[in-house]
Amino acid sequence: MTEPRVVITELCAQDWPFLFELWRIPAVMRYADELPGLRGWSKETSAEEAWDLYQEQRAALGPSYTQLILKMIDRTPIGESFFAPLPDGFTLDKWVKPEGMTCLIGDIKLRPEHWGQGLGTEGMRQVVAWLFRNTHCALLVVPPHSKNPAAARVYRKAGFTHFEEKQSWRGHTIMELWREEYEATYGP
Ligand SMILES: CC(C)(COP(=O)(O)OP(=O)(O)OC[C@H]1O[C@@H](n2cnc3c(N)ncnc32)[C@H](O)[C@@H]1OP(=O)(O)O)[C@@H](O)C(=O)NCCC(=O)NCCS
Repeated sequence: MTEPRVVITELCAQDWPFLFELWRIPAVMRYADELPGLRGWSKETSAEEAWDLYQEQRAALGPSYTQLILKMIDRTPIGESFFAPLPDGFTLDKWVKPEGMTCLIGDIKLRPEHWGQGLGTEGMRQVVAWLFRNTHCALLVVPPHSKNPAAARVYRKAGFTHFEEKQSWRGHTIMELWREEYEATYGP
């Protein structure tokens, strides 16, 4: 087995400067800036206010609302992954959130100097394992943009499959990973 290169940690106060800097890199945000309002704050929010909002949401929703930081083994931050629960009735074009079950939506972002080295795949696999281990979610959803094949590839290698290959929501395709599929492969 190869040694892990990446670790994931839950957001700490000292991670804020990294996070805000990451969100200001145009190449990172090009296809990754459109999930409406699920965080409860944006890159325009001040770090202090964002931290308060994050704590409030965490108190209300627990680990289902989670801001993870991806770090190299030496703890250098390289990226982030955010997931949040969707309410019943939520739709993305033809995709409808299944009624009455916990479904989390999110994504992953790395600083550009870390792209193309397998770190996104390694990190996303850890994020998926973390989410199934630490939440009761039945379904994970990610919306890679159709012009962002590296994202779709990373999600596929982490176990996601397309809901409908061609259907898109504002240019994004919808990919799903069900807990039962994941556990059939990796165990509970
Ligand atoms: C998406 C992202 C996380 C990928 O991270 P990464 O570390 O570069 O990914 P990996 O190196 O693990 O894997 C990339 C895969 O995409 C493939 N890929 C890269 N560019 C591609 C392209 N233009 N067409 C098809 N496949 C492509 C690579 O070949 C690789 O697959 P392989 O290992 O089977 O060869 C990174 O590009 C990123 O942070 N992008 C900006 C933020 C973003 O768009 N996030 C997704 C929001 S939904």
